[in-house]
Amino acid sequence: MKTSSSSSTFAVAALALAHAGSAVELNTADTSSIKTAASTVAKGLYVFHNEQATTGQFNQPQPWFWWLSGSGWTGLMDYTMYTKDTTYKADLLSALGKNVGPNFDFQPPEQSGWEANDDQAYWLYAGLTAMEYGFDTLPGAPSWDVIATNTFNLFVSRWNTDSTTCNGGLKWQYDPKANGWTYKNSVTNGAFFQTAARLARYTGNQTFADWANKVWDWSTGVGLVSADYHVYDGTSDDKGANCSSVNHIEWSYNIASYLHGAAHMANFTGDAVWEKRVLGFVDTAAATFFTPAKTGVMFEQQCEPSHACTTDQTSFKASLSRWLGKTAVLVPSATTTVMGLLENSAKGAAQSCVGNGNSTCGVSWTGKGFDGQSDFGVELSALETIQSLLVFDAPAFKSISGKKSANPPASESSTAPAGTSTVATSTTASSTTLITTTTTAAGSTSVPAGGSKSSPTGGLTCGKKQKRHRKHR
Ligand SMILES: *[C@@H]1O[C@H](CO)[C@@H](O)[C@H](O)[C@H]1NC(C)=O
Ligand SMILES: *[C@@H]1O[C@H](CO)[C@@H](O)[C@H](O)[C@H]1NC(C)=O
Ligand SMILES: *[C@@H]1O[C@H](CO)[C@@H](O)[C@H](O)[C@H]1NC(C)=O
Ligand SMILES: *[C@@H]1O[C@H](CO)[C@@H](O)[C@H](O)[C@H]1NC(C)=O
Repeated sequence: MKTSSSSSTFAVAALALAHAGSAVELNTADTSSIKTAASTVAKGLYVFHNEQATTGQFNQPQPWFWWLSGSGWTGLMDYTMYTKDTTYKADLLSALGKNVGPNFDFQPPEQSGWEANDDQAYWLYAGLTAMEYGFDTLPGAPSWDVIATNTFNLFVSRWNTDSTTCNGGLKWQYDPKANGWTYKNSVTNGAFFQTAARLARYTGNQTFADWANKVWDWSTGVGLVSADYHVYDGTSDDKGANCSSVNHIEWSYNIASYLHGAAHMANFTGDAVWEKRVLGFVDTAAATFFTPAKTGVMFEQQCEPSHACTTDQTSFKASLSRWLGKTAVLVPSATTTVMGLLENSAKGAAQSCVGNGNSTCGVSWTGKGFDGQSDFGVELSALETIQSLLVFDAPAFKSISGKKSANPPASESSTAPAGTSTVATSTTASSTTLITTTTTAAGSTSVPAGGSKSSPTGGLTCGKKQKRHRKHR
C-alpha cells in the first residue's frame, strides 16, 4: 500500500515515507494479509479498552456512549470468529458478563436511566452473534437464545404499551421520562425487526417470524422504509403527531439494521419476496452510501463530506459493513455485489490507517491517507469493513430449527435448545461495583447540531444524556 501521494513537496513525501512502515498493508486477495490488517486495526480499537470503565469496558467520551462499547464487542466477536485469533476473547466474555444484567437481557442496573431500546439492541447483537456462531456461553447464564428471547420479550411488551399511538412502533426510549420518548425511529424498530428475524431463523419458531413481519409491515406502512428501500431516521408521536410525518435523513446503520433482518428472513423462509427486499436494500445502500455508486468506497453521506461526523456517527459504517458481510453469506444472490462493495471499501479504509505516526485510521476512506479524525467509532468502522472480507471463514450460521435453514447441520452447536431454560434470577460475575471511567482523547462533551446518533435534532441525545448526567462511581 502506497502511503505517499502525488504531493510534490519533499517534506510531505518524507513524512509519508516515514509513516510507510506503519501503514496497514492490505492485499484483499490474500487471507493472511486481511487477517494481519484486521489484527492491526483491532489493536487500534483496543487502545480504548479499560476494564474499569462503566461505559462497557471501553473508555468513551462524555456523554454516555455505552452503546458504542456494545457495538465494539460485537465487532471483536466477529474478529475472533473470522480470524481465529483469541486475543480478545477473555475480555469479551468478561465485558458481556458485566453488562448482560441480573435478568439476562442486557439491562444492567448501571445503565438505568440512560439506556434506550437501541442501546440495549447494540449489546444484544453480540449475544445474537454468539448464538449464531456457537460462541461460549457466560458462566452462570442461560444460553444465548434465551438471553435474546428475554430482550425480545421486553421489546414486545414495550411495543404493546407504545401502540396507543401510530398503531404500533417501538419508541427510541423505554423510559417515559427520557428525552426522545416520543421518537419512533428506525434504529430501534430495525433492531426489533432484526432480533425477531434472527431468532426466527435460529429457532424456527413462527412467533418470531410473525413479529418480524409485523414490525416490517409497520415500518413500511408508516414510511420509515420506503418502497424503493430507503430507510429514514424516524417519526414522532409527540402532541398527537401520530407518526404522520417522517424525518427523511438517512444514516448507514438504519438501512443496515433492516437489511440484516431481511437477510435472515430470506434465509429462513426461502421466499422470493424477502430475497427481493434484500437485493433492494443492497442496491439502495450501494447508491446511497458508496461513492461512486456500486463500485466505490463506503461513506457516511450525511456527515462525511462536511467533516461533521460525531462520536456516534463515525461508528455507523461498522454496522453497514458487518451486516452487508453477513448478508453475503445468508443470501447467495447478493454475494457478488456485496463482496465487491466491501472489498473496495476495505482498501479505502486500510490506506487511511496511517494517522498519529502509527496505524490509526481516518473517518473518510474516499481520499488519500489519514484525514485527521480518529476515535473509537472510526477504528471500529475500519475493523468491521476489513474483517468482513473474511466473513466466509466464519463458522456456518447455526440453527436449532432442524429445517428451513440451509446451513450445515447444527450438531456441532454448543448451545442448549431454546426454551429449556427460564430467565435465571441469579447474577453472574456481573459486577455491580463499577468504578471510574476516564474520558478519552476524543472527549468533547458537546454534541453539535445534527449530531445525535438517532436523530438529526442533536439536542435529543445531548439533552437526554446531559440532563441526566450523574457522577461516576
Ligand atoms: C497511535 O498513536 C496515538 C497517539 O500517540 C496513541 O494514542 C495510540 O495509542 C497509538 N495506537 C497504537 C495502536 O499504538
Ligand atoms: C394514527 O396512525 C395510525 C397508523 O398510521 C392509524 O392507523 C390511526 O388511525 C391513526 N390514529 C389517529 C387518531 O389518527
Ligand atoms: C416460540 O416463542 C415464543 C416466544 O418466546 C414462546 O412463547 C413459544 O412458547 C415458542 N414456541 C415454541 C413451540 O417453542
Ligand atoms: C442460507 O444461508 C446458507 C449459508 O449460511 C446458504 O448456504 C443457503 O443457501 C441460504 N439459504 C437460502 C434460502 O438463501
